[in-house]
Amino acid sequence: NGVTHEVAAPTDMALNLMEVVKLYELAEEGTIGVCGGMAMCASCQCYVKSDTALPEKSDEEDAMLSEAYNVKENSRLGCQIHITEDLEGLEVELAPYE
Ligand code: FES
Repeated sequence: NGVTHEVAAPTDMALNLMEVVKLYELAEEGTIGVCGGMAMCASCQCYVKSDTALPEKSDEEDAMLSEAYNVKENSRLGCQIHITEDLEGLEVELAPYE
């Protein structure tokens, strides 16, 4: 929605990006993480804005994004991005919720 939030995501809790967004209540209740992080709903789609090196997409993530709305070249599923110290500086924009 155009509002920027900077968060210090915990790296010792085995969280993924979708869970961090929920933890910090950065998305409207019930609009993100609908499938629980199983790469089956795309409610956690985000656009990666930084040049942070991310792990390759899995076949499951690719398949889900091929069916999702508002997909861009830099789209990823937040639930498939596991928070590690290597992601310092990661900047994402949440995709519009459909
Ligand atoms: Fe459903 Fe990520 S939470 S695809």
